[in-house]
Amino acid sequence: MQVDVLDHPLAAVALTLLRDETTPRVSFRSALHDLATMLIYEATRGLPTVAVPVTTPLAETTGARLAAEPVVVPVLRAGLGMLPAAHALIPDAVSAFIGLARDEETFQPTVYLESVPADLSERPVLLLDPMLATGGSALHALRLLAARGASGVVVVSVVSAPEGIAALEASGLDIRVVTATVDEGLNETAYIVPGLGDAGDRLFGAV
Ligand code: URA
Repeated sequence: MQVDVLDHPLAAVALTLLRDETTPRVSFRSALHDLATMLIYEATRGLPTVAVPVTTPLAETTGARLAAEPVVVPVLRAGLGMLPAAHALIPDAVSAFIGLARDEETFQPTVYLESVPADLSERPVLLLDPMLATGGSALHALRLLAARGASGVVVVSVVSAPEGIAALEASGLDIRVVTATVDEGLNETAYIVPGLGDAGDRLFGAV
């Protein structure tokens, strides 16, 4: 499994804003959008393209279009904060949704929504999950995507824990992780330390 940690000064600045507990919600959303843009840009680096003719005001030349329509899958709720960046970069992408809630006692994900195309073979798939903590939610989502034929899924995460990376690695699934940081680890309630807190609450408010 390939893990790419984005090494860029603008990413570091946006991540600092996200970590700061005093960052207001509006700025948190905006920093997440900026950082998601950088991460998705990196995550889509290997997308196959096909050559297309294009006529400039001066000449005919060859351009490119994506070979297949990507599918972007935000893991609800917090993954929604990364979706506008995916829409902006890949306007033709299809959005699919996986709703997972974390059981606060077992820390295991429970599913409340699966709205995903039946056949994902031959489609590039990006899984948007800002916090790769235990890896439980991501793994659940990845197994669902694999069952529908997805391969080479790129997990786009903002903050990852070594435990989450190890869980994905142990799954043996054909995936790549693009993240802004791999933090120290999980605390006793499976939050990432130093992390940024509960990404869903900071984006949308505690429910
Ligand atoms: N989910 C979050 O939002 N934050 C964490 O630290 C772990 C899981």
